[in-house]
Amino acid sequence: MKRARARAEKPKASPFDGYRRREVPPPDPELTQVGPGTPCGEYLRRFWQPVAFARDLTSAPLRVRILGEDLVVFRDRGGRVGVLHRHCAHRGTSLEFGIPLERGIRCCYHGWVYDVDGRCLETPGEPAGSRLKERIWQGAYPTHEFAGLVFAYLGPLDRRPAFPIYDSYDVPGHQLMPAAKFALPCNWLQVKDNSMDPVHTAFLHALSSGYQFTEAFGAVPELDWTLTDAGMVYLATRRVGDLVWVRVCDFMPPNVHQFTREIEEASDPKAASRPVIIRWAVPNDDTHTTNFELAQVDPAWGLTPEQVGRPGFGQSDDRPYAERQRFPADFDAQSSQRTIAVHALEHLASTDRGVIMLRRIVRDGIRAVARGRDPDGTRWPDGKAIHTFTQDVVLRVPPAPSVEADRRLLRTTGRSVIANGRSERS
Ligand code: FES
Ligand SMILES: [Fe+2]
Repeated sequence: MKRARARAEKPKASPFDGYRRREVPPPDPELTQVGPGTPCGEYLRRFWQPVAFARDLTSAPLRVRILGEDLVVFRDRGGRVGVLHRHCAHRGTSLEFGIPLERGIRCCYHGWVYDVDGRCLETPGEPAGSRLKERIWQGAYPTHEFAGLVFAYLGPLDRRPAFPIYDSYDVPGHQLMPAAKFALPCNWLQVKDNSMDPVHTAFLHALSSGYQFTEAFGAVPELDWTLTDAGMVYLATRRVGDLVWVRVCDFMPPNVHQFTREIEEASDPKAASRPVIIRWAVPNDDTHTTNFELAQVDPAWGLTPEQVGRPGFGQSDDRPYAERQRFPADFDAQSSQRTIAVHALEHLASTDRGVIMLRRIVRDGIRAVARGRDPDGTRWPDGKAIHTFTQDVVLRVPPAPSVEADRRLLRTTGRSVIANGRSERS
């Protein structure tokens, strides 16, 4: 009701009416603010979040900003990883200048030492027998290392979920490897919106900029989305002569998605190929986001860890502006939707159904947390792999006699690919 009234108050669009419509309303705070105590921030804190690659933990601590909090990640010489509040509990010097010890980290300023759980182990300037350290704790978060990524849990300890294991972590013949890390100067949600927006692969990555992947991506797909136990998927189904190519990608709330490599030519029938990239969009704060990726790599590709660790084409700001203008890609499309996309100014269309569903999953999760419940995506049976669907599959399916009948055939074919292993939620 409230929404209908708000819509009615919008000025009616007409020619040359920029002056009447120049005001920019604020972004949706419920979905976009990530700091401590905000509804979305408390939601995101209920999940394990990647904070660093293990490869980046050298003899020096790593300064990071996660969910609006200034933190430091380090590995002590005993091999344990710590994620601590950045500013020392003594007088605030940054622990990025600290010295990792056999046990814990020593602040550079007056030498106080903190263990990975935040316990103060030494206050060396104090008199012998001082019991000050027994009262001091540096803010600390639990960590979990997995496949070369360091995860931290920034939420309330009594609500810490099991670490989720997706079935895509185990792909026969492949090796799960740490891959790229790249930052975008914008809000996390528009980065994630992109993951359930498959029509952009036909425009941004093919028709607008020239073919950035394969020519097969240039055919506008028949689109479908559905909820799954793990979250949701999109189905992008394309007709290529006598063949039908179904591309499936998963979104796992709150901020994970996975996809296959964009190399499908769809020139021959082929069995499903499993996901090769799993990506987290971790908010640094409301206006900065870092993507962390794991990749499934076939050793036959002969890739070095450095090659696996490079961001894909157009994912980061590593190209000159003039080139990005002529051949824009994901970084440009996502970060230019304003620093924080303003939903009140959007005109969502039929191709945005996946974006609408994704935002609803996030909003439902935020409201569940606000009501004191556990959000979807945090209750996994211990040790059991979570079923996901990401794949490319090419089937021989001759076209139906009419365009409309063929669209229906494409949708049915798409749904048939994910029929097994999905419980009906949509
Ligand atoms: S500020 Fe860290 S020991 Fe004094
Ligand atoms: Fe893209």
